[in-house]
Amino acid sequence: MKNILITGGAGFIGSHVVRRFVNKYPHYEIYNLDKLTYAGNLENLSDIDGKPNYHFIKGDIEDQNFIMELFQKYQFDGVIHLAAESHVDRSITNPMQFIHTNVLGTAHLLNAARAIWNGNWEGKKYYQISTDEVYGALGDTGSFKETTPYNPHSPYSAAKASADHFVRAYHDTYGMPTVISNCSNNYGPNQFPEKLIPLFINNIKNNKPLPVYGQGINVRDWLYVEDHAAAIDLIFHKAKPGETYNIGGNNEWRNIDLIKKLIEIMDRKLGRPEGESLKLITYVTDRAGHDLRYAIDPTKIKNELGWEPTVKFDEGFEKTVDWYLANEEWFNHVTSGEYVEYYKKMYENR
Ligand code: NAD
Ligand code: TYD
Repeated sequence: MKNILITGGAGFIGSHVVRRFVNKYPHYEIYNLDKLTYAGNLENLSDIDGKPNYHFIKGDIEDQNFIMELFQKYQFDGVIHLAAESHVDRSITNPMQFIHTNVLGTAHLLNAARAIWNGNWEGKKYYQISTDEVYGALGDTGSFKETTPYNPHSPYSAAKASADHFVRAYHDTYGMPTVISNCSNNYGPNQFPEKLIPLFINNIKNNKPLPVYGQGINVRDWLYVEDHAAAIDLIFHKAKPGETYNIGGNNEWRNIDLIKKLIEIMDRKLGRPEGESLKLITYVTDRAGHDLRYAIDPTKIKNELGWEPTVKFDEGFEKTVDWYLANEEWFNHVTSGEYVEYYKKMYENR
């Protein structure tokens, strides 16, 4: 394989995937296509800027003609599709944007790949990065398997689910060599501070209220972002066409317990008395349609591809906090401008 298109590479997970591929595979040409929405930030990749096998292209997956021309020009052998609108709360206030980006954007990529590859599937792969949220919500027990039926509840997860269905349809109908993976919640450096962990790190640091939705009893399974990037690397190279893999951290936390652990770490690192920041916890109106619990059964990827998480949560969480505290400038850049408006709209009257 030679020319690899990675979409959404300036975002949180995409930047870790791009960095891994550029450094590990110098014989690949890596094309990072990103629109640079509020969530895309080239600072995330400043360390690989200038590498001879790395190319950034600013562009929109919603632009059908542009995408077709791009595929004609670079004749990609592989596509790893991460570009998406990714935040559930934004999908509740603006569902149409999620349909445009996540559904139509995916369809444009599939159509361009189908046109350019034109039935010559040898050495080609289209890889869709999806989420465990498409499976819906679990009760207190059980976990999502690859065979669990899709049952999305938010406009975000419904749009991701819809895109995944198109990917499977292009495999089943045209024989396109597609793969899909569904991952649990990622944490680590470079995550935009609208998501729970970086938002709360920023608020604790600035002594701002910590808006806990509902009673804080929702459960998420957290995986260190570099472990996700390693799984993506493996699946891209080893998965057979038509396959699906679930990726998870075996690491379930109730939100309120995770928040208390974060407070403990932050107070220690900021030199505050133990428990000082607990007073910032503020219970607010629950998220509409808030999924109670996600959990992944990672047996298939472990047995078939030998993947397991390598970063222990205690270690990964400390490392994550250290990164955000050390990168104040990054925080300041991404929390200026649009972020201020977003924050007001999302939290002012909650
Ligand atoms: P993110 O919001 O941090 O990054 C998304 C990137 O896509 C940004 O760089 C943005 O500029 C780009 N983008 C958005 N619209 C675009 C468009 N129209 N054209 C081109 N680029 C566009 O998201 P993330 O958290 O890194 O998630 C990446 C992918 O992984 C998404 O598909 C998401 O559904 C999936 N995923 C995320 C998680 C998680 O915990 N964050 C878990 C499982 C799966
Ligand atoms: P989030 O990081 O948005 O990821 P997702 O909704 O994709 O799982 O949220 C993680 C959990 O934290 C989720 O149960 C919602 C909750 N949450 C809050 O309680 N307060 C907040 O301000 C945010 C952003 C999330």
